[in-house]
Amino acid sequence: MTNIINGKEIAARVREELKEEIRSLKEKRGVVPGLSVILVGNNPASKVYVRNKGKASEEVGINSAQYDLPEHTTENELLKLVDKLNKANDVSGILVQLPLPVHIDEEKVLEAILPAKDVDGFHPYNVGRLMIGAPTLQPCTPYGVMRLLDSTGVDLSGKNAVVVGRSNIVGKPMAMMLLKRNATVTICHSRTKDLVEKIRSAEVLVAAIGRAKFVKGDWVREGAIVIDVGMNKDENGKLCGDVDFEKAAEKASFITPVPGGVGPMTIAMLLKNTVEAARKTAGL
Ligand code: GUN
Repeated sequence: MTNIINGKEIAARVREELKEEIRSLKEKRGVVPGLSVILVGNNPASKVYVRNKGKASEEVGINSAQYDLPEHTTENELLKLVDKLNKANDVSGILVQLPLPVHIDEEKVLEAILPAKDVDGFHPYNVGRLMIGAPTLQPCTPYGVMRLLDSTGVDLSGKNAVVVGRSNIVGKPMAMMLLKRNATVTICHSRTKDLVEKIRSAEVLVAAIGRAKFVKGDWVREGAIVIDVGMNKDENGKLCGDVDFEKAAEKASFITPVPGGVGPMTIAMLLKNTVEAARKTAGL
């Protein structure tokens, strides 16, 4: 029997828990978490993401601020804004939406964010802490995947986990989080030899490839847990993941759908990171 992991429901639960936590933080400690989101330029997808992040923040009681900067904003202007937000006491978390326009050095901007306010978990300081297994702000999407894996109740220790994709946002941090849970982790990518064979060995498969229905049903090991991070359009323009869901579901013990799997978790974990950052900054 395949269990479909309901990301929408689990994300809603996380948000409910946060609402309670924020209410209590306000009442007992006078702490109100604040999230500042910076958007540079006119990328339509980014605009939607940023709007959703702001809306979700307000719904749980986080004070949100959005900075819309024009495409021609200079790197210096952006760095100045980051510096101002770093110093602002009412800002717990800062998020610079990626991608940035090509004339701005992304690395430089991410490194300018105070690590304690880096709710994306992209600052090299936080990435380094994740790598050594120390507590830190963790990148939202893989953090959300861990929450989905926890919902299965399956112990990851000793399991063969295969992560397909090696991005800084998903693949690499995902591998570190699975390793921390004592999984045996293989990272695959576009140059991997015998990719299908490696996917077939996975007891836990995380697909973060960015190609519609790339993972075929018969590549999925019987009883595997399949997490699909993909967000693609299929041949009919319909939203779909990196995994051929219908066929893979016949083999998997647990599987996430697209939409309604990993997607809703990313924002929920961003909110969680913002609350964690607010707590830390307040010395709680
Ligand atoms: N662009 C796509 N995903 C993300 C994300 O998780 N954080 C930021 N800042 N930008 C993104």
